[in-house]
Amino acid sequence: MPAPPHDSWPGRMNDNSDLAAEVAAYFDRRSATYDAGDFHPRLTARLIEAAGIKAGQTVLDVATGTGLVAIEAARRVGASGRVIGLDISPGMLAQARRKIDDLALPNIELREGDACTADLPPGGFDHILCSAALVFMTDIPAVLRGWHRFLKPGGYVGFDAPAGNSTAAGATLAPLAFSHGISLGYARLRTREACREALADAGFEVAHIHTEIITQRIMPLSEIDAAWAGIINHPLSRPLLDLPPDTLARLRDDFRAKIASLATPEGIVDRNIMHIAFGRKPRPCALGEAGTGRAPIASLASFRGRAQDEAVQHEEPPR
Ligand SMILES: C[S@@+](CC[C@H](N)C(=O)[O-])C[C@H]1O[C@@H](n2cnc3c(N)ncnc32)[C@H](O)[C@@H]1O
Repeated sequence: MPAPPHDSWPGRMNDNSDLAAEVAAYFDRRSATYDAGDFHPRLTARLIEAAGIKAGQTVLDVATGTGLVAIEAARRVGASGRVIGLDISPGMLAQARRKIDDLALPNIELREGDACTADLPPGGFDHILCSAALVFMTDIPAVLRGWHRFLKPGGYVGFDAPAGNSTAAGATLAPLAFSHGISLGYARLRTREACREALADAGFEVAHIHTEIITQRIMPLSEIDAAWAGIINHPLSRPLLDLPPDTLARLRDDFRAKIASLATPEGIVDRNIMHIAFGRKPRPCALGEAGTGRAPIASLASFRGRAQDEAVQHEEPPR
């Protein structure tokens, strides 16, 4: 089933007023095994590599989870810099705390809280990063406006989001759910255009957006049901549980059929594709002087140097 056109896809998801509590409980349950997968270490490495963090800087890692971004950021900012990792899940934060203590990193502070209502010092950060979590935020425009406020002029925000052509379960499910009248959170930033608009609407200059295949594997057909069981129990899928049972069963069948349609003689080609986007908070400038909007940021040549199948699409930063 084709994805709905961009302009017919609402940026908001169906109301799920208990989302924050459900997300916290879900990640508490996942926290002990979260670091065992290879997707998040690979994705966070790409985000950090592109962010261009320097010694002495101040970094906010929103939805830090087990601290994958915060810990690497703390190494990069060094003793003269500072990192704050914010998350809503005490279980994930406990894992982060354990790793930080093992590494004896003195420059990371962990805070428990909801990123949607976080109140941090205006102009307090050089970088705000958020990996694999912006789609959890009920009001993405408001969250981005908050980050704009928390950044220093000239500071950078960086986030990633699932691409619409990803075969990850959430990205596969979202357009199918939409055809049943339900707007799930997974794919609200599924195009680079949507990432660009979200940044620009919050007042950022768009510095750099690219798209990468983070993981790729051959999935056996026998895993489809496990994929469905995993995604239907995800907090962002919660609105689907209000569907009548026969509608939910049809949706499950659509999901199975969509995944099965990716089968090749070797098995199902499962590609987890993510957009990685950076925006820059403009510096105040004299009347008539244009902001530069330059990339922070590791040179784009470093992305082009990657294996051909990893680099999906790139865009030059505005000059
Ligand atoms: C998929 S994990 C990503 C963790 C980490 N950024 C990484 O890349 O490994 C999503 C994280 O977002 C956190 N999260 C989701 N919604 C949140 C919110 N509203 N406020 C703070 N944290 C939130 C969850 O608790 C979880 O730790």
